[in-house]
Amino acid sequence: MSFSTTLTVNGVTRNVELDDPRITLLDLLRERLDLTGTKKGCDRGQCGACTVIVNGRRINSCLALAISHDGADVLTIEGLAQGGRLHAVQEAFIAHDGLQCGFCTPGQIMSAVGLIQEGQAGADPERVRESMSGNLCRCGAYQGITEAVLQAQKTLDAASREEVA
Ligand code: FES
Ligand code: FES
Repeated sequence: MSFSTTLTVNGVTRNVELDDPRITLLDLLRERLDLTGTKKGCDRGQCGACTVIVNGRRINSCLALAISHDGADVLTIEGLAQGGRLHAVQEAFIAHDGLQCGFCTPGQIMSAVGLIQEGQAGADPERVRESMSGNLCRCGAYQGITEAVLQAQKTLDAASREEVA
């Protein structure tokens, strides 16, 4: 028996035939759509390396069944840069050395984008650390990551003020 699911991934509608209804969103992205920027760390919801944004909320894609997100809007790390220009969070991670080996970085960045969209970041480093606590970094780049999130929040706030003015 085969199934199919339709997702909008980074703005493009994709219909995928599934031979197993248990395929996770993470495996669908990596193995069926070749979007390997989303990483598989623990594959059990503990590290955050697989974080993507689904219908505006960040989730661990290793815990999500692809079929249960039929019709969803999915944003992955590959969809962040626009017109050859990095997203403000990506630029801030580079500027603040928010990475070492880089394996956790796509998940960290997607989580940061999600928490800024949720309005949870604020200017308090402690709140940022808490809101990012589902994303583990074995290299211990946490200081740079926190600084990058705070910087990106400021940049995006300033950009939205300019848009309103
Ligand atoms: S791979 Fe999904 S939380 Fe670790
Ligand atoms: S940069 Fe290496 S695990 Fe985070």
